[in-house]
Amino acid sequence: METKKAIELRRSIRKFKNEDIKKSVLEDILNCGRLAPSAKNRQPWFFVVLKQEIKDKVADLMIEYTNNNDESKEVKKLNSPSSVLPTANVIKEAPVLVLIFKEKDDNWTIGDNLSIGACVENMCLRATELGIGSLWIRDIVYVAEEVAEMLHHSDLELNCAVSFGIPNQNPLPRPRKELEDIMEWYE
Ligand SMILES: Cc1cc2nc3c(=O)[nH]c(=O)nc-3n(C[C@H](O)[C@H](O)[C@H](O)COP(=O)(O)O)c2cc1C
Repeated sequence: METKKAIELRRSIRKFKNEDIKKSVLEDILNCGRLAPSAKNRQPWFFVVLKQEIKDKVADLMIEYTNNNDESKEVKKLNSPSSVLPTANVIKEAPVLVLIFKEKDDNWTIGDNLSIGACVENMCLRATELGIGSLWIRDIVYVAEEVAEMLHHSDLELNCAVSFGIPNQNPLPRPRKELEDIMEWYE
């Protein structure tokens, strides 16, 4: 598939078939993440692949978070968590959840975050090409510390996650701003 076709066809998928993804296919997708460019070639990512009960445990932590939404928690300062519950349900439905951890280093925050964006988009585009649906997930950030602790990775920071699976929906393209409205051109 041409790159442009994959870019045009990719959608956030939130309904998945009850079907696993082969390890070789997942490795192919992760490898495309690994090949992404990164600021200073730091490659700040570390992937943890979760399936079955341990994956569902992450979703349960998110559900628990929405149930006892503790006002005092630091994460409340981020965007509204109204989407946390629906995202947790997607995590349960998809057979695979890939967590993307990042090195803790305050000197490189912006560069490392940009690099992880490139890495995740590479994975989502390759997944599209292979007929695999994906959902890029930031809502997991509300339970980032709990998840890191559960997986013995408290030395790292959970940046985001991606659910992967065989799509069970075929969403229309979501709206985008017109190019002329987001561009200025001097020549
Ligand atoms: C960094 C990032 C974080 C996202 N986090 C979530 C999330 O936590 N839950 C969710 O349902 N969708 C999430 N999305 C998906 C967006 O809602 C989606 O990309 C957007 O609505 C456009 O739809 P499309 O991906 O189908 O083009 C995220 C997307 C990005 C790029």
